[in-house]
Amino acid sequence: MAPDSPPSPAPVLDPAEYAFEGMELLPTPRLVVYERFVAENIDRMRRLLEGVVPGSGFRHLMPHVKTHKSLAVMGLFEKAGIESYKASLNELDLCLEAGARDVFVAYPLLAADAERLAGLAAEHPHARITAQVGRIEHAERLAAAARRKGVEIDCLIDLDVGGRRTGIPPGAAADLARAILGSPRLGALRLKGVHAYDGHNRSAVPEERAACARETMEAVVRAFRDVERAGAAADRVVVAGTPPFLQDLDELVNRHRLDADVKVSPGTWVYWDTGYDRILPGQFRMAALVLTQVIDLPGEDLITLNAGHKRWAIDQGPLEVFSIQGLEFASASEEHTVLRARGPRPPLEARILLAPRHVCPTVNAWESFTWVGRDGRVEAAAEPVSARNR
Ligand SMILES: Cc1ncc(COP(=O)(O)O)c(C=O)c1O
Repeated sequence: MAPDSPPSPAPVLDPAEYAFEGMELLPTPRLVVYERFVAENIDRMRRLLEGVVPGSGFRHLMPHVKTHKSLAVMGLFEKAGIESYKASLNELDLCLEAGARDVFVAYPLLAADAERLAGLAAEHPHARITAQVGRIEHAERLAAAARRKGVEIDCLIDLDVGGRRTGIPPGAAADLARAILGSPRLGALRLKGVHAYDGHNRSAVPEERAACARETMEAVVRAFRDVERAGAAADRVVVAGTPPFLQDLDELVNRHRLDADVKVSPGTWVYWDTGYDRILPGQFRMAALVLTQVIDLPGEDLITLNAGHKRWAIDQGPLEVFSIQGLEFASASEEHTVLRARGPRPPLEARILLAPRHVCPTVNAWESFTWVGRDGRVEAAAEPVSARNR
């Protein structure tokens, strides 16, 4: 998510870095994903995690796959040794297809979804599929579906640590744990711990993020201990989006020394976007861009591009970073983006790359993307955004 006030000016994409063989011939508009920068982000991620917990590799990482929804990226994750994933139900198939053995479906499940998850658990007995439970009604639906499919399902209690979106207050975890553990009808559920997504912790000031992480992780640890005391064989805590994942990890592992499988679950880091670059400047590389062309030249200083906000998400504000210097956002409609040129206007046909302000819904706007290999050549002209329509 974007911060409320931009702390730093967004950079310009270096066109030399993002040029690739055949770019001039590619039909536009296109979503373009660069393997080189995805790989670099994976390397950076490992270094960041190891900066907090030396020698831990990817042990504490459970990336949310909602950002990329792609088998190609799952392949890079698996190759790097990433073993655990967070997903919505629509992305669970993608993870299983990629061979993932540990997937947490972090979304409240109604009856039909619970049935689907239990069915997939039955079909994939060697995968650890974990579900989220935010109310006793979720537990009832999940347990009933699990019974029907003849499986047992791990679940985590979803805590509302400030986002006011899903879950219960941390102080209510003990009651929910007792209700789950005490009901014979819910015997197909194995209560394994707690989940807390702290999407509200997104200050651009590191000290503010750290202070918020300290407070929220204290509540998470208390809730985890309450769940243990209620009698659960709890062994897992899953927390965090991209802005506070390092502070959250530090709190849980180094400060509280929590004796549990601690996972942090950022998603956006893998592709990066200008919204997060304002909060964490330069932390990761932009790896997914929209390639457009100039289709018209209205007025004295405007250029019109052949992609509008049906092709890049506008929910967190307009575009602000381009592959040509001196451009700024003027307006957008569904199929057009209009930019103002502060200097000479790029001519008709000129190719311009756009950095998404919010990459997750931008990717979701495309059926497929052009996958540029590490050698700067197109590796796949139409690599599917596999989990998009499921
Ligand atoms: C439950 C949950 N976990 C993890 C994430 C990943 O967060 P981010 O987009 O900050 O990487 C999200 C993002 O919306 C989320 O909803």
